[in-house]
Amino acid sequence: MSMSHLRGAIGAPLLALGALACARTDTSSDSTRLSAKATDVSPLDSIAAPSGARVTRAPFGTLPTGEEVHAFTMKNARGIAMRVIDYGGIIVSVRTPDRTGNLADIVLGFDDLEGYVKSSPYFGAIAGRYANRIAKGQFTLDGTTYKLAVNNGPNALHGGLKGFDKVVWQAEPGADSNGVHLGLRYTSADGEEGYPGTLHATVTYTLTDRNELVIEYQATTDKPTPINLTNHSYFNLAGEGSGTVLGQVVTIDADRYVPVDSTFIPTGDLASVNGTPFDFRRPTAIGARIDQPDPQLKNGHGYDHTFVLNHPQGGAALVHAAHVVDPTSGRTLDVATTEPGVQFYTGNFLDGKVVGKNGHAYPRRGGFCLETHHFPDSPNKPQFPSTILRPGETFHSRTVFTFGVAN
Ligand code: BGC
Repeated sequence: MSMSHLRGAIGAPLLALGALACARTDTSSDSTRLSAKATDVSPLDSIAAPSGARVTRAPFGTLPTGEEVHAFTMKNARGIAMRVIDYGGIIVSVRTPDRTGNLADIVLGFDDLEGYVKSSPYFGAIAGRYANRIAKGQFTLDGTTYKLAVNNGPNALHGGLKGFDKVVWQAEPGADSNGVHLGLRYTSADGEEGYPGTLHATVTYTLTDRNELVIEYQATTDKPTPINLTNHSYFNLAGEGSGTVLGQVVTIDADRYVPVDSTFIPTGDLASVNGTPFDFRRPTAIGARIDQPDPQLKNGHGYDHTFVLNHPQGGAALVHAAHVVDPTSGRTLDVATTEPGVQFYTGNFLDGKVVGKNGHAYPRRGGFCLETHHFPDSPNKPQFPSTILRPGETFHSRTVFTFGVAN
């Protein structure tokens, strides 16, 4: 996987994190360190950027193992606030204004740690080492066959029984002239969940003063291993718990999508969206065609498919992937990514049994996910872009969610 050309794009926030750590003892005057010097009160529990953006740490609960979990509230200078916990790198809330300035929390989730530990369908979490599915939980790499936990019908899903959504990440908050950020680090041991190689993974969430949430993923390994990382937030732009998302209007910049079998494993083809309910090249309500008698909608129980983004010359530059608008509130979401695909999942397996924040029971299609990643089952599909990371290489991936308002 050659991704070195992205190195410049992602280097800055990681540098800023490192610089912030130094800034606690170092008063030299480059701009990163100057901004970190604004951190004079209690550097660990509250850090402010020059713009007034702020990140604050508070306890969030204790896991059955005794590990402490912390919540980091990140607020930008324009009033958008989000909360992330170091368990699973989970985004537990994102509060954005509607067209009249009313704030609502636009992601599904739980009020407390127990909800996330007991029954979460990956709400807000980092999915990895391999987001999405690997057929029959097995793949062969350089002549060795590796077996993973089968945790979704006959297949492996989202990294296994204890994927990156269920581990505690080492968190480091920071602030600079760009906004506020939270760096999360996790070392996945060789053989963890069946995957080869010790993998050092870093995920950085940056909330900018331009109302963007930038997610940067980076990883290195000491043995060849597949890697596919994403964030699994379920959005409802009308506010979590306010019904279904069927009336929200989606555009996806994809001429093709990845058809799947009845166990959600790609058939291996990349099919044209032309003339199908998968054509979101023009703005279309999620519910407009979701119940049409289409075999792929039947396999997915609705939309649960990877769309092949229209990258110029198949490259890995940051491209616009999707736009969503809620006509009622006016809230919008834009997604851009360096990844080749985006999984559009319409919460088809929510069934009203999961009771989330504020006592809200989340109905079927009460949220949508736009999970930017490589194609499912790539380790078994040589025709798909490779997901193999090798020693000496650095995995880089970047996704930008922009929160806005339409009139
Ligand atoms: C998958 C769905 C799955 C959901 C929750 C999505 O990424 O595509 O099929 O139900 O995650 O696990």
